[in-house]
Amino acid sequence: MFDYSGRSVFVAGGTSGINLGVAQAFAAAGANVFVISRSPEKVAAAVEQLQASGAKAAGMSADVRDAEALKVAISTAHGTFGDIDVLVSGAAGNFPARANDISSNGFRAVLEIDLLGTHHVMTAAWPVLRRPGASVINISAPQAMVAMTGQAHVCAAKAGVDMMTRTLALEWGPEGVRVNSVIPGPIDGTEGMRRLAPTPQALDAIRHSVPLKRIGTPANVANLCLFLGSDFASYVSGAVVPVDGGWVLNMQGTVLDPVLDHIAASRR
Ligand code: NAP
Ligand code: COA
Repeated sequence: MFDYSGRSVFVAGGTSGINLGVAQAFAAAGANVFVISRSPEKVAAAVEQLQASGAKAAGMSADVRDAEALKVAISTAHGTFGDIDVLVSGAAGNFPARANDISSNGFRAVLEIDLLGTHHVMTAAWPVLRRPGASVINISAPQAMVAMTGQAHVCAAKAGVDMMTRTLALEWGPEGVRVNSVIPGPIDGTEGMRRLAPTPQALDAIRHSVPLKRIGTPANVANLCLFLGSDFASYVSGAVVPVDGGWVLNMQGTVLDPVLDHIAASRR
């Protein structure tokens, strides 16, 4: 349906979970895909998987908290596949804990990965992205839209990501570069869901609160990314788009309380 032949896609945090699903979808549509994350083993495994599917893929280890490392990664990707057509920024960290139980360093870790990291990814890529038709997709989260107990750090970071999406859409729009955010709902088999829903009961509670009554898949998120990166979305910029079965319409502020109680009980 989408043809990305010869196009270059860079996925920050593209070595597992949702972002790997996004990388796979772009690869299957013909794109040359470059992935980064901290773990060299995860990078090697993801690249091998992408190449095994017949795609041109490469990657390297880099921490999005390190602006200089990001510049090196972007330059390597540029040397490998040329100018970037679609930039996906999805590296993130999360752990459920009430604000009173998060140290300064814990709060900083999440802000630095999710929010500062997204700034690093976008600004490092700008020189090889700045031309009409290129676009950015930031992977946000429902926590940017709805308060959730145990998620003060993530709510703050992802809300910041979405405001950066809107601001950069203003700043980069005149050069023809579109900037959008995607808000995945609860997605099956991911690290994020393992952390936020560590028990079958917690997962069931989330499933019941999704209007479509099911947990999503990485492919659901990837399909939206394929659209947003394509010319079909050529007039879509500054948008924050949920792909969540309607979950954000029906989320409760206390959704994580049983999980927090479970974690506290297992520590006793
Ligand atoms: P995941 O598999 O843990 O994905 C996170 C990715 O980011 C991994 O590739 C990880 O690899 C990388 N990463 C983490 N810290 C990094 C750093 N400092 N520098 C570079 N890379 C880093 O988790 P996921 O659940 O699929 O989440 C993917 C994205 O979707 C995140 O942005 C998350 O907020 C968002 N999201 C997830 C859900 C869900 O249901 N899972 C719902 C809404 C939004 P390394 O460990 O090798 O660094
Ligand atoms: N509750 C409270 N604080 C926690 C915590 C938890 N469950 N897990 C980590 N922290 C705190 C640590 O105690 C530390 O603070 P301190 O130095 O004051 O003790 C701080 O967070 C940083 O932890 P550290 O393990 O050194 O950070 P890191 O940079 O190695 O890892 C994380 C970052 C903590 C976000 C880690 O969970 C991670 O790498 N996550 C990536 C994968 C992920 O979260 N996937 C889901 C995406 S939605």
